[in-house]
Amino acid sequence: MSTPIQPIDHREETLDPQDWEQMRALLHQMIDDSIDYMQDLRGQAPWTPMGDNERAAFAKATPPRSGIGSQATYQDYLEQVQPYIMGNNHPKFWAWYMGNGSMMGAMADYLTAITNSNAGAGNHVGQHIEDQVISWMTDIIGYPDTASGMIVSGGSMANYVGLATARHHRCGYDIRQKGILAGGRQLCVYGSTEVHNCNQKAIELLGIGREHFRKIPVNEDYTMDLNALKAQIQADKAAGLHPICVIASAGTVNTGAIDDLHAIADICEDEGLWYHVDGAIGAIAMTSDIARPQLTGIERSDSVALDLHKWLHIPFEAGCVLVRNRQVHRDTFVVSAEYLQENKRGLASGKHWYSEYGLQLSRRLNALKIWMSIKEQGIDKYGRLISQNIRQAHYLGELIHQHQSLQLMAPVGLDIVCYRYNPGGLTLDQLNDINQYILAELHVRGIAIPSYTTLRGSYCLRVAIANHRSLMSDFTELAHATVSLGEEYMGNTPQQQQ
Ligand SMILES: Cc1ncc(COP(=O)(O)O)c(C=O)c1O
Repeated sequence: MSTPIQPIDHREETLDPQDWEQMRALLHQMIDDSIDYMQDLRGQAPWTPMGDNERAAFAKATPPRSGIGSQATYQDYLEQVQPYIMGNNHPKFWAWYMGNGSMMGAMADYLTAITNSNAGAGNHVGQHIEDQVISWMTDIIGYPDTASGMIVSGGSMANYVGLATARHHRCGYDIRQKGILAGGRQLCVYGSTEVHNCNQKAIELLGIGREHFRKIPVNEDYTMDLNALKAQIQADKAAGLHPICVIASAGTVNTGAIDDLHAIADICEDEGLWYHVDGAIGAIAMTSDIARPQLTGIERSDSVALDLHKWLHIPFEAGCVLVRNRQVHRDTFVVSAEYLQENKRGLASGKHWYSEYGLQLSRRLNALKIWMSIKEQGIDKYGRLISQNIRQAHYLGELIHQHQSLQLMAPVGLDIVCYRYNPGGLTLDQLNDINQYILAELHVRGIAIPSYTTLRGSYCLRVAIANHRSLMSDFTELAHATVSLGEEYMGNTPQQQQ
């Protein structure tokens, strides 16, 4: 007879706190501190640069062998991290293209981490939350109920999934099985010269090659030149290449221009191409009464990328891709594996595993913060906030237009204003220098955080107003600050004149 197995006498450990009441108190402290931070955003500088000493705290090192405990770890966060965050929650942050988060979004994010579900597979409520969020998004865009979609990390991944699906469906053979060379004809994709560079990354990764991502010139207003698009498609077909997809921009990153979406839908129909919309900026503006008329035609697309950490202000990360044809979407990504078979009963049962619709197997339940945010505020409020930003952009555009030392550099597209200080009589190089100075001073003096771009060779200040905390008066101040910094640079400040 064998001897019964005894548990090994070993002190077992866990990551759970030894003192739950102490942890409760620390979490209460974090909540109080975070409410103070959010409530007082306007009183803080939008951005504080780190000094050498502050950076030194992050010097390359080996990981700590023993922990310092929760209280001391939080103290390090308060001293080393919180003061130097990016600042995109601030009411005067208008750089690149970012949302500003919300209390409910952050609270839901905490709950997501606490419950820590894997949204890739399995029969649990996470899948129903995501299903519901996707159905809300299809409703906003005007897609049929049968469409599919998924929450992804952001616009880049949403575009990648849409373009992978386009390639899979339009290449005309089983590219997953046979590979990119088996079709015998070079695939081509089309987008304007203003298309976001994440699409280029996707095209490169999909094996199509940068050369065959045809960058179509734009019109005066930065929308795609559709005659040039048609001519390029015809030329490629005549040369024996295989056009598969057009990427329309619903809000370009430089100027917020919206391509003619109906016309691109028509071209795709006529030419048998997949019609993908990069709506990372503009698609969610379908909720705004002001923007919706400019976006018509988006509902005819085969796939669309939305970015909910931008104009919906869901805390990073939260993007969304929708695909009109669910089967095609799943066929692009599904891979069967014995350890991932859907069972009839138990946790491994259920339909519609999100891991079958994209690259990730394990996935954070990012749908929860979207679900809770939209429930809290209602989608109409988000639409009104988007309209508010559009009105603010036009107000700033008007201020610039009326000021003789300021120059609007592109039509105000959706919520993006590109302008420069231009008192007259300066060369292009001088103008570029002075505007770079103005931008840097706006940042380092903690006045505001617009960003920059170069349009047709001219450096511009670029103000992307996806900010639910900005006020009209912030833009009056921005215009004044631009002028006074410009005058300062020219050695022509009012003080020096006296
Ligand atoms: C038009 C457009 N597409 C795609 C992206 C990429 O989105 P993300 O940064 O969320 O990956 C951006 C980001 O600003 C964008 O403006």
